[in-house]
Amino acid sequence: MAHKYAQLVFTETVRAMQKEQNSRAGYASMDQGEDYNFLLSNVEADFIGQRDSLYMASVSETDWPYVQHRGGPKGFLKVLDASTLGFADYKGNRQYVSAGNFRNNDRVALIFVDYPNKRRLKLMGRISLVAEDDWQTLASLEDDHYRAKVERGFTIKVEAFDWNCPQHITPRYSESELESLIAPLTNEIGELKEHLKEKLQPESTLQSYPQTSGEGELPLVISGIRQLTPRIRAIELKHANGDALPAFAAGAHLSIPVVLEDGKLTHRHYSICSNPSRSNSYEIAVLNEPNQEQIRQSGSAVIHQHFTLGLRLDCSMPGNYFHLEQSTAPIVLIAGGIGITPIKAMALTLISQGGEFSLHYCGRSIDEMAFSDRLTRQIGNKLTLYAADEGNKLNIKKLLTTSPKEAHFYFCGPQKLIDQILSTAQALGIAKSQLHFERFVSNQDITAQPFTVKLNSSQKKITVSVQESILDAVLAQGIDVPYSCKSGACRACVVTVVKGDVIHKDECLTEADKSNKLMCLCVSRAAQDTLELEL
Ligand code: FES
Repeated sequence: MAHKYAQLVFTETVRAMQKEQNSRAGYASMDQGEDYNFLLSNVEADFIGQRDSLYMASVSETDWPYVQHRGGPKGFLKVLDASTLGFADYKGNRQYVSAGNFRNNDRVALIFVDYPNKRRLKLMGRISLVAEDDWQTLASLEDDHYRAKVERGFTIKVEAFDWNCPQHITPRYSESELESLIAPLTNEIGELKEHLKEKLQPESTLQSYPQTSGEGELPLVISGIRQLTPRIRAIELKHANGDALPAFAAGAHLSIPVVLEDGKLTHRHYSICSNPSRSNSYEIAVLNEPNQEQIRQSGSAVIHQHFTLGLRLDCSMPGNYFHLEQSTAPIVLIAGGIGITPIKAMALTLISQGGEFSLHYCGRSIDEMAFSDRLTRQIGNKLTLYAADEGNKLNIKKLLTTSPKEAHFYFCGPQKLIDQILSTAQALGIAKSQLHFERFVSNQDITAQPFTVKLNSSQKKITVSVQESILDAVLAQGIDVPYSCKSGACRACVVTVVKGDVIHKDECLTEADKSNKLMCLCVSRAAQDTLELEL
């Protein structure tokens, strides 16, 4: 006999069947020559050493074969020499079927499968229990990094093995095999991400942010910075000379000079949210809205990135287009998101005046709602918080309906909130004089289109980009035009339109003004490609 595996598995009955099926001739050569396929070469040893699982069959005293799946760390079945394998038997389900079978019959058959490469090795041998006092062999079977408890050790004397054809092996992959397979892709994705990040970084023309900016008469320095929420930062400002600051009323704002990434000086308005009774400092809160496309024009992104302690800002005096009117009427304050800033100052003023009021503050989540904890302490049950992620939404109609008839409503927040309050109030017949509001003015109107303005006096044509206002585009050309709020509230920048239609976005023009062809340069835009102005 030559092929040891054929010797063991090709029984008389099997051979008879091969003859019947005309396959015997193909296997006849396996009976020729010297014995082979019973000593493991490096090929088999390496293959076995790479496996982390195998199937093992034993024979019971009832003649039933019993097949068990065994798994462990890669190489848990050790090749001790060319004809000996061994493995540690770890504590399992305590049925001891295989171990019990081996007491009666030492025959064992193993199948090792390399699924990704569709290779399979079958092996037969005789198994024996390693003696409890054979510490040397037991130690050689243990896996250092495998923490399961070893109950016993087995060695297998190899009698025969054979490699199978790869047919019918479906490739399967373990987690570590998958990891190594996709490693080149993972690396490539990582490199592409880095590349993309670099591309999206705005090209800054600023070498370093100027330590002083602005041309206003009020010299302020940054004396404190606090992170209120993941996206909102509070900035405390004091007089550069240590003087008392000009008084301000709730609803007031500061026009903060900001040097954009392209080096241009611009101004952004932020409500003063500190208590108006404090004269030694102002506090503003700035929401960072990272938008890689428009970061070069984003004042809030610049403030978050470059404003540091000690930076000097020469501002103009606080302005106010959102006054809290003197009245004994009950007040309902409504804030959405960062719109809390002027509303907070109003609430603190009303507390000090002993006025009747309630504050309704809504946001995405409590964690994103600046000052929610402090306001809870300061105004207690006059405050109601509405966190959307908790399913707690402000019911505007219910609030307006249940508020006292003579109440005045002060509200600030995103466009949608303002529009909903205005339309609900109109539907409920609440007088316009009872409604006081301030919208956010954002440079990030995603529906905006570029257009050209023609100036009537000079016949100059100026392109207004998506990110800038007509006012900013005109000022950038060195043309002196009056302005103040830059938010459509003060009328300072109003001009007459000679030709073209306007998308009005201000809060200060009346319907009659609009019919008379007036527009605010700071917020309104052209409805078509061109707009001709009396300028
Ligand atoms: S600057 Fe105030 S409305 Fe334009």
